[in-house]
Formats: sequence, C-alpha cells, structure tokens
Amino acid sequence: MVVHGTGNIDQQGEFVLADRTEDELAAFEHELDHASMMGEWQVPRKPEPDPGGVPHLWKWGMVYDKMLKASDVLSLEMGARRSLLFINPAELPNRGSILGVRVGLQMMNASEIAFPHRHTMAAIRFVLKGSAHTYTVVNDQKLYMEDWSLILTPPQMWHHHENHGSDKVIWLDAIDTPFVNSVNALFYEPYPDDREPIVGRDSAEVNARVGWVRPSWEPAPEGDLPIVYRWGDTERALKALAGTPGSLYDGILLKYVNPLTGGPVLPTFSCSVQMLRPGEKTRSHRHTFGAVYHVLRGHGSTQAGDMTLDWEAGAGDSFVVPNWAWHAHRNLNPDQDALLFVVDDEPVLTAARLTREESG
Ligand SMILES: [Fe+2]
Ligand SMILES: [Fe+2]
Repeated sequence: MVVHGTGNIDQQGEFVLADRTEDELAAFEHELDHASMMGEWQVPRKPEPDPGGVPHLWKWGMVYDKMLKASDVLSLEMGARRSLLFINPAELPNRGSILGVRVGLQMMNASEIAFPHRHTMAAIRFVLKGSAHTYTVVNDQKLYMEDWSLILTPPQMWHHHENHGSDKVIWLDAIDTPFVNSVNALFYEPYPDDREPIVGRDSAEVNARVGWVRPSWEPAPEGDLPIVYRWGDTERALKALAGTPGSLYDGILLKYVNPLTGGPVLPTFSCSVQMLRPGEKTRSHRHTFGAVYHVLRGHGSTQAGDMTLDWEAGAGDSFVVPNWAWHAHRNLNPDQDALLFVVDDEPVLTAARLTREESG
C-alpha cells in the first residue's frame, strides 16, 4: 500500500504516492530506533487522554484479613511497618493507586515501634482506629494518633511511630512515591538509631503555632510543617457548612489546607473530607486528577466510568476513581450523612497548569 512520499499525477489526474511503502517506512523507523531517535510522526496524537487506571474498590473485610495475615508472616522488625498498599489493577507505570499517589493501610500491634527514617516522598496518615497512647514522631515532634486525625509527614522529615497502648492501631497512609519515581527523585535514609529523640512538644503545642494565634517570641513558622488536623475541628466545619448548597459534583467537600499558605497540605497531593447528605446524588464530572476514597461513615455508590462501586463504612471500604474518568456519587441512606476521606493528586497537575475539568 502506498502511504507517503513524492509522487506523480497519473493518467486520471490523481496524485499517486508511488515511491514509499509501509515496509520502507517501518525499516526507516527501525533505523531511527537504532540511532536512539524517532520520528515526530511516531508520537500518538489523541484528542484527549484515556483514564489513568481503572476504577476499583477494596472491601474492608478482605483488606483487614490480609492485614492480620501480614502480622503472622512478617518478622517483628518488618512487622512494625505493616503497610498494605492499594495498587490500581491497571498496573500503572509506578504502581500507584492513581497516577501520582499510592494509598494503603498500616496496622501497629500493641507495644510496637516502627523504625525511623526519612525520604523525599511526602506522606500523610489518616487515623482510622487510634489511641491516646500512640503517636507519630515527625522531626522530633510528638503527634498523637487520635481517631480520624490527619497527620502530615512532609518530604525529608524524620518520622517513626510508637504504639504504647494495649490495642491495635490502624491508619490510612498516602504517599507520593509514584510521582517521585516518575521523575526519578527517590532518596531514602534510615535513621542511625532505633528512634529519634522527642523534644517535648506534643501535637497541641505544634497546632498552637500555626492556628489563629502564634507565639510572639518565636520566628514565624515557614515551609513544610508536621501538623495534626484533629477531627473535632474538621467536624465543626462540616456541621457549620452542611446546610449550604455545596458542590454539584462533590456535595460538601472540605479540603484540608496548609495553614501557612491556604494551599494543599503537601506539594504533590491534597486531602479532603467529603460529606454527602441524606439521599444526595451528585452530578457527573471528570477531571485530570485522580482520587482515592476511604469510607468513614454511611453507605452509597459511585458510578466511575462503566463501573458501579457500592461502598459502605463498616470499618471502611476504599475505592479509586482514576483521572479523566466520569464519576458521580450517591448517598444511598435517606436519613443519614455519608462521609468519605479523599486523597487526590491535583496539586501536581495545578503546578503544571494541567488541571482540567468537564461536567457530564
Ligand atoms: Fe516513611
Ligand atoms: Fe470528582
């Protein structure tokens, strides 16, 4: 078949590309490949991307069983980092839940200490089942892991966890490893000791430095901070705004913010809490960032692409909506709110001016 090249006008007046064939083109492309080159014509030109991954739901019961099994099969040393990760079944290039972020669950048994380390990845913990005797230490600050607290571990801050209670503690982890790997900037360093020192501050003191007021005798805080967002503060905001119209696409979705900038909690991903009021059904939309959801309260369904994900709290199903996939949420309970914790990779897209959204 003739595909391109210089040609001649034939006897019918048609322009005929006579001297280049698909075989010749393939051979040339092969030749370019050997020279570590390619033709610009070889780059696919699609009008828009396909969704980055597939929608998927992880039922709590299945995940918790695997977590218990991890306690049996992991050594004591490894067990203290007993973290199971949600990998998108589409097998994304950097094995994320969505393109930029990997979410998972971590469990610590009573009296365990997870060894300290630091890395270039940014991370958060959202505590599902906490305790008054469990804390994360981030850059020498003791941050208590109470139920439904959100704790930040910004890039390159030393961190470890200590559970001095008598029960298991479980939290949701989110980390931007897939993004960091995609730009080949992963650096990792173990702490030289079993645990890092604690300078005496606890989460109450840390929060008092970044809220409505701050100490006059200290320099103003700046940069990344180890912060705890306590559930009580978030819940008060949810209650205050529950009666407002909210978003057509997300109901009452409140973004956690960096108190110093008003921007997202971390440079590469955002955290939010989303309330769907009794019976609320959102309109369909899609956007260039993906999102991972964990169900905190209630039950409902999310239509994502051609899949219907039925979710419920129990101790919490988790599900993923990949970027550029149409989706809409529905609270199936006519009498009670549904509540979701959400992680998305919008900040990376925003930094590159690639955020795009379309309503269905
Ligand atoms: Fe870490
Ligand atoms: Fe959305």
